Amino acid sequence: MEALLAGLRAAGEPTRLRLLALCAHGELSVSELTQILSQSQPRVSRHLKLLVEAGLLTRIREGSLVFYRIADGHESAYLARTLVDLLPDNDTELSRDLNRLDIIRQKRAELAENYFQENASHWGKIRALHVPEADVEAKLLQLVGPTRIGTHLDIGTGTGRMLELFAAQTERGIGLDLNSEMLAIARTQLGGDEYRHVHIRKGDMYNMPIDDATVDLATLHLVLHYSLEPTAVIAEAARTLKKGGRLIVVDFAAHGEEHLRTDHKHQRLGFSDREIIQAMEQAGLEVGTTDALAGDPLTVKIWQGICQD
Ligand SMILES: C[S@@+](CC[C@H](N)C(=O)[O-])C[C@H]1O[C@@H](n2cnc3c(N)ncnc32)[C@H](O)[C@@H]1O
Repeated sequence: MEALLAGLRAAGEPTRLRLLALCAHGELSVSELTQILSQSQPRVSRHLKLLVEAGLLTRIREGSLVFYRIADGHESAYLARTLVDLLPDNDTELSRDLNRLDIIRQKRAELAENYFQENASHWGKIRALHVPEADVEAKLLQLVGPTRIGTHLDIGTGTGRMLELFAAQTERGIGLDLNSEMLAIARTQLGGDEYRHVHIRKGDMYNMPIDDATVDLATLHLVLHYSLEPTAVIAEAARTLKKGGRLIVVDFAAHGEEHLRTDHKHQRLGFSDREIIQAMEQAGLEVGTTDALAGDPLTVKIWQGICQD
């Protein structure tokens, strides 16, 4: 009863109820929340602190930025969602807040779009060297099948495309990347209500902020060729897998396109089956099927490893 009372006390104040309503629509920074509420930052921060302490909101630090989102996964989270669901749709103040949130989202989307445009030609050039992404995605959907996925961890998520691909069959999605601009794009792409269960996090693939044995599906989609230590990345991914959990690595077969090193910062010119299979075995995974989608000049390979213990 104490926890429930603490939750109700924390939510029982107009600004805090507005904050809860806003954070139910995605991850928002203090400065964004301050703009929406037109209140001073210290005041908004105080309210946020109380909501976090009561377990109604989750605080996520990303470098110098801090984001808040509605809590999930425990009793206080249920209270938070229930309170938000009880809020009337036609409340003038809440509607105004949501309109301002839309404007903030549009600004974010514009920033993300600018970054995307600046890099689009770079990405486009690489895309032209291999089979269409749609073919790779169709193959991935076929390999995973229509089964429910408890937790999907997408490592080096970039714009969050892999999270999007599996979102409908996933209970919890986590996208991890080191690049803040990429994370901003992913957050914008996955801002809709159908992605409420998807979380975007800043993190390094060599040392991920993810507990052992908690993940059902881990994906590394066109990420490994940026790594000087692919074996370490595969071992770190394997660490997070539950028994029966699966790691899917999508990357290029070994190739000779040297210019990708200089022009596109690839650390590795693809991988041989032997190298990936060895790394998976060393990480304690049982190696599953391997697929190849031949392109000119790059062939996309899909390797799978399954956690046995
Ligand atoms: C080519 S993009 C692929 C993005 C995404 N997986 C996709 O296929 O659309 C490679 C991504 O790996 C991320 N990355 C590179 N090194 C990383 C590291 N050490 N930890 C986490 N992410 C990293 C980059 O920031 C970039 O977003």
